[in-house]
Amino acid sequence: MPLNIIIGTQWGDEGKGHITDRLAHDAAVVARYSGGDNAGHTVTIGDEIFKLHLIPSGIIHPGVICLIGNGAVVNPAVLLREMDELAARGVDVGPERLKLSGAAHLITPAHIAMDRAHERARGREAIGTTMRGIGPTYTDKARREGLRAELLADPVALAGALASHVATKNEALVGGYGMEPVDVAAVLGEFTDYARRLGSHLADGPALVDEALARGHMVLAEGAQGTLLDIDHGTYPFVTSSSPTAGGAMTGLGVGPRVVDRVIGVAKAFTTRVGSGPFPTELDGAAAARLRGMGDKPWDEFGTTTGRPRRVGWLDLPILRHARRVNSLSELVLTKLDILSGLADIPVCVAYELDGRRVESFPPDLKTLARCRPIYETLPGWVEDITDARRPSDLPAAARWYVEFVSAGAGAPVSHVSVGPGRAQFIEME
Ligand code: GDP
Ligand code: IMO
Ligand code: MG
Repeated sequence: MPLNIIIGTQWGDEGKGHITDRLAHDAAVVARYSGGDNAGHTVTIGDEIFKLHLIPSGIIHPGVICLIGNGAVVNPAVLLREMDELAARGVDVGPERLKLSGAAHLITPAHIAMDRAHERARGREAIGTTMRGIGPTYTDKARREGLRAELLADPVALAGALASHVATKNEALVGGYGMEPVDVAAVLGEFTDYARRLGSHLADGPALVDEALARGHMVLAEGAQGTLLDIDHGTYPFVTSSSPTAGGAMTGLGVGPRVVDRVIGVAKAFTTRVGSGPFPTELDGAAAARLRGMGDKPWDEFGTTTGRPRRVGWLDLPILRHARRVNSLSELVLTKLDILSGLADIPVCVAYELDGRRVESFPPDLKTLARCRPIYETLPGWVEDITDARRPSDLPAAARWYVEFVSAGAGAPVSHVSVGPGRAQFIEME
């Protein structure tokens, strides 16, 4: 009765949606346990591209039940838009297939306005959030002032809670930040409609997961964001406000660690980051443009949620070792290996130089990280197009060596390599 967890090992956008779609084939339930529509997960099936922000990527597989767990935060407007878009493409998003935990917290227009106000007030120290209201919603959760999805089943309680929530936020918005207030009547109207449409999707998330596990089914926890965006284990304060790491899957779904089998870390074959904050192996100029792509292909490095160009750099092994440690990874999935084809040689950061010493691990604080300089080892490149490779032996020797090098350097076996965004573009490693 295993729970398998998919986790981003870097700063997000590693290809979690892609591998979730692959593994969902064997799952009874696919569940999101953290974050909200700050996530953007891409699933490519033939010519069809699905960009999912809130609904688990398992939704594309008929028969799989999808759960938005209690650890997630949900903007009902975004959820309904995503449901409508999927329904228009023939995907069943009815209440039997798509479940929303009553204990997940709701994002309102007032949270989004607060996100904007906080970012503006931070000025040059802005985090570069996705402006989806994520931070303010988790703040309210921790302050015990949040609005849980269960309110969608009780219109009277919902209206009362919303009125007081918007009034409180308006005091801060107008008085504290000199911004426009949020229109409380408009919010009440919108949410009445959301309650009508979403009430039937409410579920007891932990019970649903427990029942699936008890029947011997596989449950797949689809991580959002990445280890370095984790509020405890990331590059604080340049992080998101939730726990995308393995521990977050426990509290975010309501299960204990004894049910976990695999903890699958997804790593891009290089590194990317959206938003502000440190990035030791970051590149600029032509080298960056080469890794980023030109923005004319769906797999180019432009944010799925915000359209911002992603910052790019070489692979950083101290980061992968950090991710292995804080998530107890059982394995790695290495994505976008195809993007490296054609490079004459490929630098990989194997350690950092810190005040003249070599350090192997990712430092726990930003002050130390700022003094770290990457130490690179340069691996040979390959010229072959590898997008049609399906077995390890289809890969050129240099590409196989790259995978082995990553596995040894990260301290975790690479179970799959992905060589393109398509459903079949995976290699299962021996
Ligand atoms: P997620 O947030 O971790 O699910 O990742 P995103 O979907 O935001 O970003 C990953 C991007 O890379 C998407 O456009 C995927 O279609 C694409 N992608 C995933 N794996 C591969 C791969 O192996 N090769 C290429 N070329 N693109 C990939
Ligand atoms: P997926 O699931 C990449 C980043 C934002 C910003 C920081 C805080 O697609 O990998 P927030 O809006 O969460 O308060 O922003 O976190 N961020 C992501 N970056 N991929 C994501 O999700 C992200 N979710 C949040 O860019 O730097
Ligand atoms: Mg993404």
